[in-house]
Amino acid sequence: MKKTKIAVFCSGGGTNLQALIDAQKSGVITDGQICLVLANAPSAYALTRAQAANIPTATVTKKQMGSQQAFEAEIERILQEYGIELIVLAGFMSILSESFTSKYKNRILNVHPSLIPSFCGKGFYGLHVHEAALAYGVKVTGATVHFVNEIPDGGQIILQRAVEVQEGDTPETLQRRVMEQAEWKILPEACQKVAREIAIQGEKYERI
Ligand code: GAR
Repeated sequence: MKKTKIAVFCSGGGTNLQALIDAQKSGVITDGQICLVLANAPSAYALTRAQAANIPTATVTKKQMGSQQAFEAEIERILQEYGIELIVLAGFMSILSESFTSKYKNRILNVHPSLIPSFCGKGFYGLHVHEAALAYGVKVTGATVHFVNEIPDGGQIILQRAVEVQEGDTPETLQRRVMEQAEWKILPEACQKVAREIAIQGEKYERI
C-alpha cells in the first residue's frame, strides 16, 4: 500500500517531531512517511532533528511573508510541491486561518499538552498550559491529539492520555512528564491511525 505523505510543522525544540521520526523507524508508523518538516522560525531546533534524519526542511516566517494570507499561501505552495496528504502540528505556535484549515479538512492533526477541553484555546500553549494546570490545582492532566479546524484546539478529538500531577511539580517537571507519558506516545499512534485511513481510502478519504 502507498504510504501517506506527511508534513510535520514545528516552531521549537521538536521533541514530538523526534517521537514521530523514532516511531517511523521502530514500526509504530507504517502507513505514513514524513516527507517534509516545516518551521515558522529559522532557529527551531526541530530543523536540525529533521536534517539529522535526512528529511527535507522548509522555513516560512510570517514576518518575511508580510501577512497571514501570504504566509499560508507560501505554505500551501510548498505542501503541493511535496504532494503532502497529512499535516501534523507538533509544537507549531502559529494559528492557521479557516481558509487554510478548510482546505485540509480532517487532514491536520495537533498535539496539545492538556486534556481538552481544559486549559486550551487562545493563549494556552507550551509551558503556559502547565502553569495554568498547576495554578488551578488539578491532580490529573494529560495530552490530546485532535483534528484542527478554525477553532483553536476545537476540532474532533482522536486520542487522549491522562498523566498524574505530583506533589512539588513545577511547570517544567509537569511538561516533561506529560511529554514522556502522553504526547510522545499518542501523537505517533494518532498519526498512524489517520495515515492508514488516508492510505486505504485515497482520494475518497473524508474522516476516520
Ligand atoms: C509540546 O508540549 C506541545 O504539546 C505544545 O508545545 C510543546 C512543543 O514541544 N504545543 C502546544 O502547546 C500547542 N498549543 P516540542 O517542540 O518539543 O515538540
